[in-house]
Amino acid sequence: MTGQTNLAYQLEQYLPQQLEQLIRDIGTQALALGQSLYLVGGVVRDLLLACPSFDIDLVVEGDAVTLAQQVTEISSAKAILHRRFGTAKLSQGDFVIDLASARNETYAKAGALPTVAPGTIKDDIFRRDFSINAMAISLAPSNYGELIDPCKGKEDLEHRLIRILHPRSFTDDATRILRAIRYEQRLGFELEAQTAQLLTRDIAMLDTISGDRIRHELELILKEKCPEHVLNRLSRLGVLKRIDLPLKTNQWMTEKFGKARQLNRSGQTVPLYFCLLAYSLSQKRNEQFLRRLNMPRKLAQALRDTLDLRAHLHLLDKPLMKRSEIYYLLEHYDPLAIQASAIASESSTTYRHLSLFLDELRYVKAHLSGEDLTKLGIPPGPEVGEILRKLLKARLDGQTKTRDDEQKLALSVKTMKARTGESEY
Ligand code: CTP
Repeated sequence: MTGQTNLAYQLEQYLPQQLEQLIRDIGTQALALGQSLYLVGGVVRDLLLACPSFDIDLVVEGDAVTLAQQVTEISSAKAILHRRFGTAKLSQGDFVIDLASARNETYAKAGALPTVAPGTIKDDIFRRDFSINAMAISLAPSNYGELIDPCKGKEDLEHRLIRILHPRSFTDDATRILRAIRYEQRLGFELEAQTAQLLTRDIAMLDTISGDRIRHELELILKEKCPEHVLNRLSRLGVLKRIDLPLKTNQWMTEKFGKARQLNRSGQTVPLYFCLLAYSLSQKRNEQFLRRLNMPRKLAQALRDTLDLRAHLHLLDKPLMKRSEIYYLLEHYDPLAIQASAIASESSTTYRHLSLFLDELRYVKAHLSGEDLTKLGIPPGPEVGEILRKLLKARLDGQTKTRDDEQKLALSVKTMKARTGESEY
């Protein structure tokens, strides 16, 4: 009797009161327009698992843009409308709600984006990836909280199964291969038998997916609590190799990803994980991977830097290094590449030097600027740059501390240069 399950109690219990009231109000407003409103997707799954997220997706059997406009007229909610896509983003205080029109999707070609047409809530459910993500909750006042579950998602949740909705699912959209394993590992579920078989059969269909879409799914994986579990599983299945990320399933990644979470200084865990993934690739493989993912320029450079630094890491494995020596070895590398190398390095000396650069040396600046040097009588030109570099070196190595020290040093360099008529730096 799954059709009669009512989740009004869970909505009230788990959602913040203001948010629950807002979705109730939108439901009432939809009714006034003669439309039915539903809560859909991951939040329904998570409510049933008693670990709700506040990532609210609503679907209306009608026009989402008209409904969103109407809501802004009767409440303090604000809306951003995307007329072309028939979607809207509503926000009130800290809460954000995505609102879409129910749609029917058909795939003209494997891997292409689907052709979209207006549809019913059932159409909208049947276009989805897995049964556990294919449930809706009615938000109409007359049957508020009623679960709509034509694909038996609740049963699959109870049996802890990831199940696709039809045999062509992975061919239509092979990103579902990556998504299936992400949910499997996040929830500790298993792939239902036929889903497992079709997933393995359809791995080659990943070739039909654009780099941007593959990258987006990889980013979602890297945002998971323990992405290494997902990646190790994908690697064992042969999925990573298919997207030009030929990692060996290993303890190394588990250990280093754990360390990345512990040590992460920048809060940018996802790009840092990407650099760690690159760390185990050859340069040639890395280039293939960057091309396959259509990696944005800045991140691509951080991955290249990681490999370049890996090749020079032995230079930092000397116990007695001057601070300036460390600085000049590292100054041109992306900080993410340096962080990744610190995490990957097995030498405590190298780790210490990389950390010193990240925590301290990269922020060191000379007290004097180029303008200050001009005021001291050093004519604008390459000489100013040379002296600034000399000042920085002295400051890094503790030979100067104050502005005064630097002025003296700058003038002595100037005098010496005037005497010899050449640069020694
Ligand atoms: N969806 C889908 N196929 C995709 C992407 C999304 O069917 N390739 C559907 C699923 O029903 C999913 C919903 O769109 O639940 C929202 O997508 P997303 O935000 O990626 O998933 P959530 O389940 O909301 O969030 P998360 O995966 O992080 O829990």
